[in-house]
Amino acid sequence: MKVAVLGFGTVGQGVYEMLHHAKGLEAGPVLVRPGKKDADFKVTTIEAITGDPSVDAVVEVLGGIEPACSWVSAALKAKKHVVTANKALVAAHGPELAALARENGVALLFSAACGGGVPFLHNLALACQSDEVLSVGGILNGTTNYMLDAMQSRGADYADVLKDAQALGYAEADPTADVSGLDALRKIMLACAVAFEKLPCEGLYHEGIVDLAAEDVRDFQSMGYTCRLVAKGGPVDDTVFAFVEPTLVPASAAECAVKDNYNLARYEAKCAGDIVLIGQGAGRFPTASAVLRDLSDVLSGQRMMMPQGCVRVTADCTGCGHPYYVRLPKAFAAQLPCDEVKEDGDIARVITKSITVKEMHDLAAQLRQQGAQVFFAGIEE
Ligand SMILES: NC(=O)c1ccc[n+]([C@@H]2O[C@H](COP(=O)([O-])OP(=O)(O)OC[C@H]3O[C@@H](n4cnc5c(N)ncnc54)[C@H](OP(=O)(O)O)[C@@H]3O)[C@@H](O)[C@H]2O)c1
Repeated sequence: MKVAVLGFGTVGQGVYEMLHHAKGLEAGPVLVRPGKKDADFKVTTIEAITGDPSVDAVVEVLGGIEPACSWVSAALKAKKHVVTANKALVAAHGPELAALARENGVALLFSAACGGGVPFLHNLALACQSDEVLSVGGILNGTTNYMLDAMQSRGADYADVLKDAQALGYAEADPTADVSGLDALRKIMLACAVAFEKLPCEGLYHEGIVDLAAEDVRDFQSMGYTCRLVAKGGPVDDTVFAFVEPTLVPASAAECAVKDNYNLARYEAKCAGDIVLIGQGAGRFPTASAVLRDLSDVLSGQRMMMPQGCVRVTADCTGCGHPYYVRLPKAFAAQLPCDEVKEDGDIARVITKSITVKEMHDLAAQLRQQGAQVFFAGIEE
């Protein structure tokens, strides 16, 4: 199977190199910007790929929505199988692209878009064929895991570990999508689509680690907790819940052992129980290996990861609740349903009563509107 590659950046170069050693796969043309054509195997228009009858499959690793969406659509219409690592694209247009793939009798797979090198969506899609998946989740962003782990193990400040993450190539120059939790949210949206046939698009909540301070981490440690950025999703009536938030996990939790920039992806199924996968969530070769696994799946006949009946839904986060750890200025603490309050100068550290995800995230938004600087984390019970 001859494979063209759209985009020759971090992942594209890894895919191109791996294609030279993979069984049953052959490297085809690589699409680059017009000014970057410096070798014969590079082309500069999508037509050079969609119009090439020797190309059987296209890997999209450009990132962003456009032109990725138009070019993936053109490849599917030209009856080329498509494998993409682009979570933003699948979260925004997955159901339509899957329908287009079906119409044209070709594959659309996107394992690398959630979990990087961790074979999460691949296994989740398989599990759904024979078992009932009850929940999905985990640590789905390696950049923030690196930062949280470094803050805990070195007692370092947020700004310092962000600089280190950028120097190591874990965080981009603009790290907003990672540190705000949006990247992990897009990934849990995809996992919900695969597991529950519902792509949640509204009613979602995500909280990142931007407001975390070194003193908070010391306080968690004194209580026996480790902070991880955790995504969760599951079915509720005819919709799903899906959210991302910093979470305090006890020493016994598998999440606690996830170090450096690793990911942990998990699902719970009715018969199989709790399945936990740990590995590299990003990086050139781990991500390229997930793309190559999808291409091998195409070779063995797999066509779809997005279930046929998948519909867009508004998520419902009113049913999941737990206590929260909240650090905020003392003057605002009375607005929280407090169970326990520790005062430290002008700062209050509150353990709330069990409240829903929607209530906590809405409360934090209100407090911030009033000018309060707030950090909060769910407490795993
Ligand atoms: N990096 C990871 O570890 C990782 C992990 C999982 C998933 N992913 C996903 O994989 C995708 C690619 O990520 P990446 O890290 O490889 O990004 P990247 O290093 O920025 O590579 C993207 C490449 O696509 C090229 N490109 C963008 N628009 C183009 C256009 N209109 N025409 C031609 N070339 C164009 C870029 O060229 P210029 O440099 O000239 O703009 C760049 O070479 C993203 O969707 C990302 O979310 C990445």
